Amino acid sequence: MTGQSNSHRIAVIAGDGIGLEVVPAAQQVLDRVGEQHGFELAWEPFDWSCEHYAQTGRMMPTDGLEQLSGFDSIFLGAIGYPGVPDHISLWGLLIPIRRAFRQYVNLRPVRLLRGIESPLRGIEPGDVDFVVVRENNEGEYSEVGGRLYRDTPQEVAVQEAMFTRFGVERVMRYSYELARSRGGRLDSATKSNGIVHTMPFWDQIFRELGSEYDGIPTHEYHIDALAALFVLDPRRFDVVVASNLFGDILTDLGAAIVGSIGIAPSANLNPEREYPSMFEPVHGSAPDIAGKGIANPIGQIWSGAMMLDHLGHSAAATQVIEAIESVLAEGSVRTADLGGTAGTKDVTHAILEALATEGARS
Ligand SMILES: NC(=O)c1ccc[n+]([C@@H]2O[C@H](COP(=O)([O-])OP(=O)(O)OC[C@H]3O[C@@H](n4cnc5c(N)ncnc54)[C@H](O)[C@@H]3O)[C@@H](O)[C@H]2O)c1
Repeated sequence: MTGQSNSHRIAVIAGDGIGLEVVPAAQQVLDRVGEQHGFELAWEPFDWSCEHYAQTGRMMPTDGLEQLSGFDSIFLGAIGYPGVPDHISLWGLLIPIRRAFRQYVNLRPVRLLRGIESPLRGIEPGDVDFVVVRENNEGEYSEVGGRLYRDTPQEVAVQEAMFTRFGVERVMRYSYELARSRGGRLDSATKSNGIVHTMPFWDQIFRELGSEYDGIPTHEYHIDALAALFVLDPRRFDVVVASNLFGDILTDLGAAIVGSIGIAPSANLNPEREYPSMFEPVHGSAPDIAGKGIANPIGQIWSGAMMLDHLGHSAAATQVIEAIESVLAEGSVRTADLGGTAGTKDVTHAILEALATEGARS
């Protein structure tokens, strides 16, 4: 399905809000680097979104997953808009894709790029460079549960978390392998003091697998203490593995300590490559700034670089990240979330120029 080939079929779901602005920006950058490296991205757009829901009553057609299944990758902007409850938009599109295509790894790099000032004191680029591996298919995000006695004083809501041995083992194995390949350590987010069934199970599997990965330093942190350490000592981390909910919260915090949620990338990976993987920024559709042309496109572009890497174009991926970094380091063209006054198009243009300069140099 993938591998080092010259043409890749990519399904594009720009979605809602700023997704409609940052996705075309990223496509321009990825097309340009493709030209430089001799590959082509054959984009196919899908207008699935809250707008689509308003018109049809569905976030995507009933055969939506089937339509996506033949693509090499999915490139997604953001889903969600006021007027459609978030659980409908999320469970009508994003979560079915992640589950049906066994994208059980949500990889979220937390790296302080050159030119970005961390809100934390005394942190320099290079100091913070770690990856959160978020379990992406089960855990706290489960459909098991329900509501009883609706609209009465006795109303009750039950939500069950689901942790399967199969699901926990595979994401932890991926994390141990990643820590090994980076020559680093692996830390696990737990809360076994308060959540007495699923979290001790999570810890047990973490330790069992650890015995197969001799020489990789590990530690288990309660999620509350871990959140504090992200702020107090982010230098210590290399790979952090976390459940679906814990990983989601940790990575917004991770994005904040390295400058802005507007630059944070993510990959929803099916490591076995049986199905397409999906690449999207950590941020949402940002209705507060949508339509103004001021969204930071870097999270989307960096997610695109992760897609190139997955498709076998690691040199092109590195070049895109270097272009982003050189624009940030130069400092004059940046969006409001990073303290600047530039718009989405200005930043995109600056990154395209940086690519051209680097391309000419190499
Ligand atoms: N994966 C997804 O599609 C995804 C993820 C998170 C939230 N959402 C959805 O997005 C909607 C808004 O959610 P939210 O407000 O909690 O989170 P959000 O990430 O959309 O916005 C949070 C804050 O960050 C700012 N921001 C986000 N991305 C930015 C960018 N690229 N450039 C500049 N500023 C940026 C926003 O302006 C806002 O102030 C909701 O409907 C939510 O469900 C979707």
